[in-house]
Amino acid sequence: MMLFSLKTPAFLAPMAGITSSPFRRLMRHYGSGCVVSELISAKGIMYDKEGGRSDALLAFHEDERPLGLQLFGEDIDSLVRAAQYAATKKPDFIDINCGCPVAKVVTKGAGSALCRDPRALGIILSQIKKAISIPLSIKIRTGWDENRNAHEIIKYAADAGVSFIAVHGRTRAQGYQGSADWDYIGELAAKSPIPIIGNGDIESAQDALHKMHTYNVPAVMIGRGALRRPFIFKEFEALYHNKPYEQPSYEELLSTHARMIEESSTHPKTRGRDLLAARKFIAWYSSGFPGCHAFRASLFAETEPKRIWDMAHTFFTTQKSPLTHEEGPFLMGGHG
Ligand SMILES: Cc1cc2nc3c(=O)[nH]c(=O)nc-3n(C[C@H](O)[C@H](O)[C@H](O)COP(=O)(O)O)c2cc1C
Repeated sequence: MMLFSLKTPAFLAPMAGITSSPFRRLMRHYGSGCVVSELISAKGIMYDKEGGRSDALLAFHEDERPLGLQLFGEDIDSLVRAAQYAATKKPDFIDINCGCPVAKVVTKGAGSALCRDPRALGIILSQIKKAISIPLSIKIRTGWDENRNAHEIIKYAADAGVSFIAVHGRTRAQGYQGSADWDYIGELAAKSPIPIIGNGDIESAQDALHKMHTYNVPAVMIGRGALRRPFIFKEFEALYHNKPYEQPSYEELLSTHARMIEESSTHPKTRGRDLLAARKFIAWYSSGFPGCHAFRASLFAETEPKRIWDMAHTFFTTQKSPLTHEEGPFLMGGHG
């Protein structure tokens, strides 16, 4: 199905400011079949100094494979050159963000604005495809507004040589309101000449498998669901392969996450900052546990990395099991 092999057909969705190299590596460790970087500016890649912000965003660990690097931009020239540069880092594929609804991005003509003119997008994609020798994918929304045109986008993208397309089942106009339209994703998948990865609102491993089967998509992508349920891919892997599932401990999750951050941070100052930034992950992991709200408040009041991780270990070791899982509206904004 894919040009690279997937152990399980569930991907971690790209999320800006979240799917950093250590978190992607963590999710691969816990069963995500594939990972994608956050959106990286094509112009930034062209103009940043070597070893600057763009290079940091393009960096990944070998354990993350299969991995895609996602680029965004609006003009052929910078996208082609950025894709060529990103390909020198040897990811497994390059993904173009055609779904970002954020005003700063779309007013320039990038992200979901690229989908307003499927023919022009097709030309951009075929130029990128010709310039690289690894697979090219795109991530889209169902359309710009209620006049959804994903069928047309898929046709032009397939003609341009795109290998697969991830579809977040909302229009750009919807932002994060309402729910992802999986019936429409199913229609797209049924007619598409290339694989369609379904995305939007998956909250559990059971839900992921159910959606895959009901809407007949070869794979699904999970974003926010993986933050409150860090073992969602591991559970999905067990369900998909019909194997018994044993939930890893949260203590192990914390130690693995901390180790992966330390291994990716080269400088003690960066390490300290990254370990501190991990508060948001710890807060998400605590979701659904009794006392999680008070725990989060004290977590964010703490600024010393070591104490933060100690607090997290204490919180999780004193838990028996999560009673419930928080569901419903969560992180209602993002770049795709
Ligand atoms: C905080 C945040 C950041 C995001 N950043 C990106 C991004 O960089 N690139 C992208 O294609 N999609 C991005 N997205 C969209 C997600 O990949 C996904 O399509 C969306 O969250 C719906 O899936 P979910 O309901 O499983 O989270 C982002 C979403 C969120 C919540």
